[in-house]
Amino acid sequence: MKEEINKIKYPPRVELACLPTPLRRLHRFGERLGIELYMKRDDLTGIALTGNKVRKLEFVLADAQAQNADIVLTCGGAQSNHSRATAVAAAMVGLRCRLLLRTADPAKPPPIEGNILLDRMAGAEIVWITREEYRNRHEIFEREAFALRNEGRTPYIIPEGASNPIGSWGYMLAAEELGRDISSLPGGSERPTTIIHATGSGGTAAGLILGARLAGLPVRVVSFNVCDDESYFIRVIGNICEELIAGYHLTIDFDRQHDIHIIDGYVGRGYAISRPEELSLLCDVARTEGIFLDPVYTGKAFYGMVQELKRDPGCFGERVVFVHTGGIFSLFSMAGEIVPLL
Ligand SMILES: Cc1ncc(COP(=O)(O)O)c(C=O)c1O
Repeated sequence: MKEEINKIKYPPRVELACLPTPLRRLHRFGERLGIELYMKRDDLTGIALTGNKVRKLEFVLADAQAQNADIVLTCGGAQSNHSRATAVAAAMVGLRCRLLLRTADPAKPPPIEGNILLDRMAGAEIVWITREEYRNRHEIFEREAFALRNEGRTPYIIPEGASNPIGSWGYMLAAEELGRDISSLPGGSERPTTIIHATGSGGTAAGLILGARLAGLPVRVVSFNVCDDESYFIRVIGNICEELIAGYHLTIDFDRQHDIHIIDGYVGRGYAISRPEELSLLCDVARTEGIFLDPVYTGKAFYGMVQELKRDPGCFGERVVFVHTGGIFSLFSMAGEIVPLL
């Protein structure tokens, strides 16, 4: 790692996550795949906070506090991990929280289970909206914020996945942490390493890519998309990276076509819809390593990684770090699909 690492000037942050998270070697699974496989356990950032979102929320909520907000608004799918992490993190810092959650029919909202149960227990207000309305969520955010201001409140809007430049600082910091992890492995940071993770709204990828560059880490960041396609993510991640570089005056040469690596082809049946082979792999990882991946994000990326390695065992080099970005609570709403596979 380069010396400059200590000179990275981070924006203000509230400490919410249990950091640093462990980096664990997956001996049995790695041997099977013929690689040195590690997992960055960002599912251990906290019990209710589990996952990648809290790293972003540390910076986003510091910004909300700086703006004297008293309520945060955010959005996601019904079982959104980001919304649950926001509800919990808001409770930790004494902010109210309102969630716009997407469902087929708001008149018949989904059962209160998994992440929704935790949202409600952490005191979040839930506004159910249709898929159509979700596409125009910016208007709904503005309407809700306007009404709250009229009531004398100070709302702060957090975009989907907290994937904006400020939130992405969470994964710039994570990249610095990964740099320390990697330098303590046999072969140190000189040994080429591929960092693999799931991408859904782009902020984790943007933070990892730019953070690795700022820290001078010789790693390749590879993102498996769980929705949309490669060109969509090059645009979304590219925009966040360019806004970060411009907004914080970072001296990084960045070329979206060259620096963003998306492996498309593993969305499967669609966002948050699982195939039996993906769920079987989840069970296999749990049996082999005692680690629970989630069906929507990490399970699909891990499945994609395994398929790519079967096709070409050398495609990621000798050392791979898979970032476990959390999501365990969505498993509990899928018991019906998982039980027949046991
Ligand atoms: C468990 C989990 N992993 C990965 C992601 C993807 O991260 P990002 O939204 O930063 O692309 C998300 C959220 O979207 C998530 O909840």
